[in-house]
Amino acid sequence: MKHPSNQPVPPPPQASSALPRRDFLETLGFGSMAAALAAGLGGLGNAADLRENPKPWQPVSDRKVRVGIVGYGVCQFGAQFGFQDHPNVEVVAVSDLFPDRRAGLMKACRCGNSYDSLEELVKDPKIEAVFVATDAPSHARHCRLVLEHGKHAMCAVPATYGSIEEGEKLLESVKRTGMKYMMAETSCYHASCHAMRTIYRAGGFGRLVFSEGEYYHYMAEPIDSYKGWRIGLPPLWYPTHSTAFYVGVTGGRFTSVSALGFKGTNRWHQPGGNPHGNPFADEIALFETSEGGVSRMLMSKSVFRHVNETGRVFGERGRMDGMQYWGEMEDKLPDITRPSLPPGVPAGGHGGSHGPLMNEFITAILEDREPLVNIYEALALTIPGIVAHESAMKGGERLKIPQYERPTA
Ligand SMILES: NC(=O)c1ccc[n+]([C@@H]2O[C@H](COP(=O)([O-])OP(=O)(O)OC[C@H]3O[C@@H](n4cnc5c(N)ncnc54)[C@H](O)[C@@H]3O)[C@@H](O)[C@H]2O)c1
Repeated sequence: MKHPSNQPVPPPPQASSALPRRDFLETLGFGSMAAALAAGLGGLGNAADLRENPKPWQPVSDRKVRVGIVGYGVCQFGAQFGFQDHPNVEVVAVSDLFPDRRAGLMKACRCGNSYDSLEELVKDPKIEAVFVATDAPSHARHCRLVLEHGKHAMCAVPATYGSIEEGEKLLESVKRTGMKYMMAETSCYHASCHAMRTIYRAGGFGRLVFSEGEYYHYMAEPIDSYKGWRIGLPPLWYPTHSTAFYVGVTGGRFTSVSALGFKGTNRWHQPGGNPHGNPFADEIALFETSEGGVSRMLMSKSVFRHVNETGRVFGERGRMDGMQYWGEMEDKLPDITRPSLPPGVPAGGHGGSHGPLMNEFITAILEDREPLVNIYEALALTIPGIVAHESAMKGGERLKIPQYERPTA
């Protein structure tokens, strides 16, 4: 159901009592006078530098989830999340439309079975869950097919490619089938984003006044892709690495947006150069948040040779940049360690986020609970970017963002 009003942020759970190792590394450089000032101004001078403190993995079940994996394109994403290494997973079959990629995925996942397409793979009654790592424009359609065949779906980002309607159809499928859906947004398990989420839930930021999420991916030429879906891609149709630094931290929502774009000089940004009529290589959005704050989120391809996914949050009781925290909880921080992985499961790429994402999906199935980035969070991470692009195309006009009411627990 859609509703236009602000969505309340769920109350933060209680803080854990575990303390991470803490170092005081950064000062403002004004010596003892600054220290004295800082003491009176709530930690102005020092930052708690956070460290992860890994613990042994504890299995929640000895059952194996029977998984199918689809998509071994340019990023070879099907094999990158470590399903094949998880003790609670049996990779039953894999697929890619191209025979050589299919063979590569079979080898990488040590799997003896394959199907010619996802459409064939979903008919296999043995498979309970499918990792959809196909081209972005097919994600919503492919996941609906998986769900409608009574299987759980984990999908590479974005949940929907430029179409709010497709996202809403996906939501309807999740609701109708009752199967689990998770979007594999890598920023959500970056160490800093995970730490921000943990500290936010413990109350160490209060309400966020302001937050920033940035995805820089300099491209002199577009990266290759199936049927060229990356050519002239409207930047904020791919917003989730950035929007995670608000939605993935607070569980809050973006309610309106005004965005602007930076025109690309490449041929694919000229009129007729891409199928979307998109002139922008970079887009920067200013979102209103459900806490009454502001978020600046960007997707950028023009900043010279810059590739990074990062963010920072500024709250009434604390702030955080990278792995450094300043705030009221400096002396009683919760354990910010990411969930442990089974032996032999690599943390993987994108800041060690692949393994934790896969493990979260499998654990949610085993525990029969909602995964961290469920359909509601996935749409809240993705759809604001689609509206932001529309705003940029209208010269920054402020637009409302559709909201999708979460079921109450
Ligand atoms: N940090 C991140 O989260 C991150 C990074 C890179 C890529 N991705 C996402 O991962 C996905 C895959 O990226 P890519 O660069 O490999 O994509 P790609 O376009 O190069 O490859 C897509 C693959 O899907 C296969 N495919 C399409 N339809 C199929 C079907 N019906 N049945 C079987 N196979 C089918 C194609 O044959 C192709 O090999 C993309 O959606 C991308 O957005 C996310």
